[in-house]
Amino acid sequence: MTAKALSHSAVATHNSKDDLYLIVHGKVYDCTSFAADHPGGEDFLVELAGQDATEAFEGVSHSDGVSAILEDLYIGDVKRIPGEPVDYPRTKNHLSISPCATSSDGISFGLYSVLIGAISIYAGCWYISNSAAGTH
Ligand code: HEM
Repeated sequence: MTAKALSHSAVATHNSKDDLYLIVHGKVYDCTSFAADHPGGEDFLVELAGQDATEAFEGVSHSDGVSAILEDLYIGDVKRIPGEPVDYPRTKNHLSISPCATSSDGISFGLYSVLIGAISIYAGCWYISNSAAGTH
């Protein structure tokens, strides 16, 4: 089959059990006939139909044998359209990652602690030396 270039929104129209495209690592796979035979279950693929399934695909330890199947299902590559999101937003977000503190938050929190600690020590020393001076 000749490889096609499909936009994310074009892939998104193939979003049902009977018309099921998936994107994995920028490549588009027609999984319509394969879904029922998917050893991990049809539901996983149906749930992600028409979307970028790279994260979910990588989250499972698929064997090397999968590459041969993927070759059969391959129909084309994702075409980048300016303005279209790189990672197509998930409509069914059971696999989305919930927001949590980023490492940069952690770093700035650590810096604040060090800064506040240093100021407290400095203020403590200043107070002690001042009150010692006051006793004379
Ligand atoms: C897009 C094409 C996909 C193909 C061709 C594919 C193929 C396969 C194959 C051949 C297996 C059997 C085990 C192996 O050989 O690795 C498998 C297992 C599995 N797949 Fe997929 N898969 C695809 C996508 C996905 C996605 C998007 C998910 C989502 C989570 C998924 C979840 C699973 C799970 C949970 C198993 C069972 C793993 C286990 O029993 O340890 N697969 N898949």
